[in-house]
Amino acid sequence: MSSIQLVAGNSNRPLAEAIAAHLNQPLTVCQVRRFADMEIFVEIQENVRGRDVFVVQSTSFPTNDHLMELLIMIDALRRSSARRITAVVPYFGYARQDRRASGRTPISAKLVANMITQAGADRVLTLDLHAGQIQGFFDIPTDNLFAAPVMVRDVQERMDTNNVMVVSPDVGGVVRARALARRIDAPLAIVDKRRERPGESEVMNIIGDVTGRSCILVDDIVDSGGTLCNAADALLEKGAKEVYAYITHGVLSGGAVARIAGSRLKELVITDSIQPTEAVRVAKNIRVISIGSLIGDAIARTAHEESVSSLFD
Ligand code: R5P
Repeated sequence: MSSIQLVAGNSNRPLAEAIAAHLNQPLTVCQVRRFADMEIFVEIQENVRGRDVFVVQSTSFPTNDHLMELLIMIDALRRSSARRITAVVPYFGYARQDRRASGRTPISAKLVANMITQAGADRVLTLDLHAGQIQGFFDIPTDNLFAAPVMVRDVQERMDTNNVMVVSPDVGGVVRARALARRIDAPLAIVDKRRERPGESEVMNIIGDVTGRSCILVDDIVDSGGTLCNAADALLEKGAKEVYAYITHGVLSGGAVARIAGSRLKELVITDSIQPTEAVRVAKNIRVISIGSLIGDAIARTAHEESVSSLFD
């Protein structure tokens, strides 16, 4: 590990520390702070010349600040002659506009990929991208890790998997949900949301029989919590015994935590790809599991030029 160097921005210091502890490698001393006018000031305070540097920074809220910190840190490392710079972005923000779904819209995910590359990153290591094809927006090697093994371990430790039904909250999430269902050998159901006519409210149909089942909703992002809470209600109305959710990125904006606390969801399990707020930490039906070891293992394998994909075999 001696030639690797871990650098952390301000977005998720506890996760960076967990990764550092897993790798038994201290975080590089650096300053990432603000000028009086809130511009970002960066100074790497250790020699990184010729080193294999991993910059840990989720582009979570406040997204623009954290993205800019990441870009400036990469610039500082490039100008300091780091041998290789890997942007470790556990939560890749700006991923939801990933195609021109309608006229006069951007492809923000591609723009952000260009910015990270132009700043000087040589590789990207990320987790449960909103859409797998975002990897192709980078013209540098990009590893998209999956939280599934960490979630599967948690499910197997806590639930009777014989009565579990894995559920995708929308048609777009089927591949992700199926991957988890396969790992725990459980059947799959799908929430099919439809607006029959413009102006009418959405109808939720459940594809699959959830009667008497412990349902596990699987998704990449929980933001307002609307998708999740509506899906939980629909499943309970169709006879599900109870509903849990395993979601990689707990964006949890605005009143999401209160909404989930007041919902019929038995428990929401998220990872620490985004640093949990105090409200999340004290919420009775939200639990955080760590992906620090998984990311640490992926960093070690990258540094040793070993397979990263075999982490998921
Ligand atoms: C949608 O494609 C995503 O996978 C999530 O389902 C969505 O971003 C969740 O958003 P919210 O919590 O605001 O309903």
